Amino acid sequence: MVADVPATADAALEHAAAALRAAGVPDPRREAARLAEAAWKLDQGQARLRRERVLSAADADRLAGLVRRRAAGEPLAHVSGYAGFRHLVLASDARALIPRPETEGLVALVLKRTAEGVVADVCTGSGCIALALAQEGRYDRVIGTDCSGEALDLARENAGRAGLAVEWRLGNLLEPLRGERLDVLVANPPYLTQDEYTALEPAVRAWEPRLALESGEDGLTATRELLRAGLDVVRPGGWIALEVDCHRAAAVARLAAGFGWVEPAVHQDLFDRARFVLARRSETS
Ligand SMILES: C[S@@+](CC[C@H](N)C(=O)[O-])C[C@H]1O[C@@H](n2cnc3c(N)ncnc32)[C@H](O)[C@@H]1O
Repeated sequence: MVADVPATADAALEHAAAALRAAGVPDPRREAARLAEAAWKLDQGQARLRRERVLSAADADRLAGLVRRRAAGEPLAHVSGYAGFRHLVLASDARALIPRPETEGLVALVLKRTAEGVVADVCTGSGCIALALAQEGRYDRVIGTDCSGEALDLARENAGRAGLAVEWRLGNLLEPLRGERLDVLVANPPYLTQDEYTALEPAVRAWEPRLALESGEDGLTATRELLRAGLDVVRPGGWIALEVDCHRAAAVARLAAGFGWVEPAVHQDLFDRARFVLARRSETS
């Protein structure tokens, strides 16, 4: 073992937390434990239970490598290799957006309305929404689509690990759903303007796909198309459920009404921001 490498797990955790703190990482002790679990291949919560364990040089080096990456600004989900989403632990890397905690609320809203039938998650990314619906709902079929083959590869891997059945389809917005008759169409599409994308914190721009975040000059290109063409794939009486930018939720609800969706309603996320718009297709149209 090299001279300045701490000998026990406990000392290595303290050392890692100090390095993360010095780099300005929020909650450095929790993150140090998560990185240690990834470096030492332990289950979640195990790093702090075996504090007196003497580390091998390889274990110490692996943790030091992960701490260096995190201190340089790489997201925790990429460095540790996973992100939690509802009851799932999902692999996470540069191929897709890191699942956000607020998006869990979209799943809850959908499950409350229709947990049966056929659901499609468009713009699925890591597959988080589709997989959570497959795990928690009683759907006959769950479909997940994305225009990024890389994102779909990650979603497929996540489905395999979780043992969940989702039909993955590659293509632009609703094109892969032609001929479907959905009970629910759910999507967290890209929804930032170019200026909003430019103003994002540098780590998001550096590590997460631009394709997942920006959608035309007004941020509504994908959302508008989902509302327009969604009427062709959602059955009469079925639902559309969208995550939106919190500054444009009311505008999206108005857009939905304009396209003929009924009872469009804005819902808050866990941070109390206007984040979701849900609406129904009329029973008679
Ligand atoms: C905001 S991310 C959401 C990912 C995931 N659903 C989540 O909630 O974490 C948007 C996703 O939409 C995909 N996307 C962007 N434009 C698209 C398009 N025109 N057609 C299909 N997917 C698109 C991106 O590849 C990205 O995976």
